[in-house]
Amino acid sequence: MRKLLCICFALLGLLQTVSCASQSLPEETGLETSAAVTLLTQAPDATTGIAEETDFSETAETSVTTESTEAVTMAQTSAESTEATATAQKPAVSTTDVPAITDFVPSVLEGEYAMGGDPLIEERDGFTYVNGILIVSKSYAIPKNYDPAGIAPEAQAAFDAMKAAAQEDGIKLKIISGYRPYRQQDSAYHNYAARDGKEAADRYSARPGHSEHQTGLAMDLNSLSSGFGDTEVGKWIAAHCAEYGFILRYPQGKEEETGYMYEPWHIRYLNVELAKAITESGLSLEEYLGIQSVYAEE
Ligand code: DAL
Ligand code: ZN
Repeated sequence: MRKLLCICFALLGLLQTVSCASQSLPEETGLETSAAVTLLTQAPDATTGIAEETDFSETAETSVTTESTEAVTMAQTSAESTEATATAQKPAVSTTDVPAITDFVPSVLEGEYAMGGDPLIEERDGFTYVNGILIVSKSYAIPKNYDPAGIAPEAQAAFDAMKAAAQEDGIKLKIISGYRPYRQQDSAYHNYAARDGKEAADRYSARPGHSEHQTGLAMDLNSLSSGFGDTEVGKWIAAHCAEYGFILRYPQGKEEETGYMYEPWHIRYLNVELAKAITESGLSLEEYLGIQSVYAEE
């Protein structure tokens, strides 16, 4: 009997050890995940050989020649937490001496705007609206201190609805990169330029202050390679994103107009009506509005 009791106690001790070990796992996983989250990237384009966007922020230890494929895998496996991070994070790292503008500016102004004819260009506190649509491009920057610190609530709600609808169709949507502060874009762009040269970097990465990601209205979904447009998920996004208020901001064959290579993963939130009208037109946003996307000094 005494022997039996001893065995029982020994077994209990063993169970406790196992349970302690498993309790420490989430912490370890969390660490790994947050490390991976800093490696949000875009993969080397298989067809052009041009390496696409990689978020180098907080990755000083990461060489600019980091194997993008590995980073992409890490980013993809951490996509769920990225999504949460994108909305929950409030980094508020000031890039200037002036206070950050933390209130979201509207993506689209209220009111009727006639399309066609000369574009109506309005500047409001450093933000440019063309025919009532907030434009961020090579031609139009936004203030350096604009730091809403997350995805705009209406864009997040639209994404959530789209994700649920996609799920019904057996498609799993993930946000790979959402809100990007000025400082992060600055760091990323300069690293790309150092790695690939300015001319190449300008084809796939916006200079700081010129990225839609700083608005909290743009998102990169699922996979960051040019072939993504031909996948089931890429096709689903192209076919349905307008129903939720998004447009594919950098469509195929429109680099001349948008200033950027095809990005089948990058969507921009407008509203359902405009997104449908623009998508149905088959035009890029620049063509639809009759504007250009070029840097001032070029
Ligand atoms: N890749 C897009 C153009 C950006 O950097 O915002
Ligand atoms: Zn993007």
